[in-house]
Amino acid sequence: MISIQCPKVASNREMNIEEALEIVESAIEQGHLNRVQEIVFRQSWEGKSYTEIARSSGYEAGYVRDAGCRLWQVLSRAFGKKVTKNNLHGVLKKEIDAVAHATQTYCSYAPEWQQAQQPVAQLMSMEATTGQYQDWADAVDVSIFYNRTAELATLQQWVVKERCRLVTIFGMGGIGKTALVVKLAQQVQDNFQYLIWRSLRNTPLLKDLIAELIQFHFQGQHINLADTASGRILQLMTHLRSSRCLLILDNVESILQSGNHIGCYQAGYEDYGQLFRCMAETPHSSCLMLTSREKPRSLTAKEGEKLPVRSLRLAGLDVIACREIFRARGEFLASESEWSILIQHYAGNPLVLKMVAPVIQDFFDCSISKFLLFIKQNTFIFGDIRYLFDQQFNRLANLEKELLYFLAVKQNPVPFSELIANFAPTLCRTDVIVTLASLQQRSLIEKVDDGFTLLLVVKRYFINKMIEEDRTETISQEIDCFNEKSLNKLI
Ligand SMILES: Nc1ncnc2c1ncn2[C@@H]1O[C@H](COP(=O)(O)OP(=O)(O)OP(=O)(O)O)[C@@H](O)[C@H]1O
Ligand SMILES: [Mg+2]
Repeated sequence: MISIQCPKVASNREMNIEEALEIVESAIEQGHLNRVQEIVFRQSWEGKSYTEIARSSGYEAGYVRDAGCRLWQVLSRAFGKKVTKNNLHGVLKKEIDAVAHATQTYCSYAPEWQQAQQPVAQLMSMEATTGQYQDWADAVDVSIFYNRTAELATLQQWVVKERCRLVTIFGMGGIGKTALVVKLAQQVQDNFQYLIWRSLRNTPLLKDLIAELIQFHFQGQHINLADTASGRILQLMTHLRSSRCLLILDNVESILQSGNHIGCYQAGYEDYGQLFRCMAETPHSSCLMLTSREKPRSLTAKEGEKLPVRSLRLAGLDVIACREIFRARGEFLASESEWSILIQHYAGNPLVLKMVAPVIQDFFDCSISKFLLFIKQNTFIFGDIRYLFDQQFNRLANLEKELLYFLAVKQNPVPFSELIANFAPTLCRTDVIVTLASLQQRSLIEKVDDGFTLLLVVKRYFINKMIEEDRTETISQEIDCFNEKSLNKLI
């Protein structure tokens, strides 16, 4: 058993780093952090990323990251709960609150020597009344996070003020869904007794996922779990009614079908639809947040401005935030308008911009204008960006692909009537409408005043695909004479 010394921190003010370090060193078995652990702890406390810590300390980034992982494991063992870079402040604040609370009540009847020996396990059992349980699993580090003020305000309003039961954040790969939800969860965590984060990337069966959630809720007590997924959903709902929980499921697209129109569950995962339905339709005091590249189809009909089910389609970052992403890598040369063109070209997608920035540094002397000239003259698309779009392309239905190829070669937005005229002879009107809606929900096409169009980076990707698949005939039909120059006009 270990005991925590309680530094004199009034629980209503921010704890400083020295106090935090004192708590940590009194809790861990070895009694003190080694040099690199202390550096990682101090700078993580200040919200620095591993890269920044590596830069300022002179250690290799990989070494710092490994030291960080080991440190969080040591702290998790010491505090009996998962400690990560993200929840460090929260865990220590709760620890100090629990110790302060225990010391006050304990003082009234315990001899002085026992006060210093209050075991962590005993203090933690008070958490159910004084604090919260959190499991962030492998949620990402968001110590570098720009803007999204409006989106965070909207989500706070929905989750905290209006107590929405189910909120979905959807948008194209890399647009920042996960980062946004981690940030939001950090901001709203105090409003919930339980917070649990899970990624569906490895497609867990619902039965197993719920078993984990219920086990977490009961903190290791023995529970008789129902045999079926439906039975377990009912058991879970009982807990979600009795406590206010924030449950976050990331990467929901992993359990959805590919090769079909958007939003159908994969075989064997249909019961997730039942869970989402229960969360949306039955009264409870918790909130389920989903992030997905594709919106599960069953949810759309349940959403509404006045209903407890909402969704937010996440667009790219604004120019200022995007420029910060570049600034974090170093100095780049560009005029205001070049910045705008670059960022518009990549739809403000932070992941794509993070992939582009090192290319501009390494091959274009940090000059955005040289890079823009290059992409104007070449249809080439970088490996990592290509991989990101390949993932989305491989999930499309055939009709969706055909429609995207059709739109990719058009220089101007295509009116709905033209799409119908082109596709309706062989397809029924409804199929065209359903396909357009599906593509909009995948964030691959945009509706503008005079029709439908592709984001520039998506257009570039599809033109590349067409060249590879030797569909240049389709392109040349659209342009009088197909040559390098006319193709460049398109992208
Ligand atoms: N507001 C932001 N400020 C700075 N960086 C950001 C921001 N949002 C996202 N990023 C960075 O962009 C990258 C992609 O973000 P994220 O993983 O959240 O995207 P995603 O939409 O969840 O992607 P996927 O569909 O692949 O799950 C990450 O490296 C993340 O740190
Ligand atoms: Mg994500």
